[in-house]
Amino acid sequence: MLIDTHAHLQDKSLKPEIEDILKRADEAGVKKIVCVGYDYATSVEAVELANRYKGIYAVVGVHPHDAEELNQNVLEKLYVLAKDPKVVAIGEIGLDYYRNLSPKEKQKEAFIEQIKMAHEIGKPVVIHDRDAHQDVLNIIKQEKAGKNGGIMHCYSGHLPMAIELMKQGFYISFAGPVTFNNARKTQEVAANIPLDKMLIETDCPYLTPEPFRGKRNEPAYVRYVAGKIAEIRRKDEEEVAYITSRNAEKIFNLLD
Ligand code: NI
Repeated sequence: MLIDTHAHLQDKSLKPEIEDILKRADEAGVKKIVCVGYDYATSVEAVELANRYKGIYAVVGVHPHDAEELNQNVLEKLYVLAKDPKVVAIGEIGLDYYRNLSPKEKQKEAFIEQIKMAHEIGKPVVIHDRDAHQDVLNIIKQEKAGKNGGIMHCYSGHLPMAIELMKQGFYISFAGPVTFNNARKTQEVAANIPLDKMLIETDCPYLTPEPFRGKRNEPAYVRYVAGKIAEIRRKDEEEVAYITSRNAEKIFNLLD
């Protein structure tokens, strides 16, 4: 069994074909999918999908790109949504200094507010970090973000930061980029961290792994991420699938 721990099934490029996509995932051995919101509307859609289909779970939150959306009204609605039993974490939240679609101060504020929400309702956090490693790590430490566990999604940092994150209660999640030829730094992390701290994801429809890089991504392709990690670790793909699935069930407390 494989688990895709980060998919945006509500994306308009995937949702119209959801039944076919879930069928292909099932055929590829992907039995559970964590559907992640990135603003209020897509968080609602994630919860709807999780309540409609077996094996889908929801993560709700406001992405740093949309940090300006997170006013008091949206935060209150998010709290209500986050208490749904199919919601397994708060995310994706964090900082993105690559595109800087919201001002940095607003991003930090929204990040901290949502860490506090996760703590209040007792669920883990799913964190997005792009070109903001130091500030993300500082906030994680300052707010004890990993108190109920955490997931660093689509990990792009170096090994020392991964070690620091694991000490803070985090799992490290790998997506398509670990399969890319030029991903030496990410592959080094995958080669060196304990397998029992590792998760795999697609981040679909983005970041399609080799050999389908450039095409639309979908949960069935998470097996290529597992395959690459197996190759890096010189393990069987089944073992990587088994361990990463067990990790995902543990951190997200995936109920049937
Ligand atoms: Ni994502």
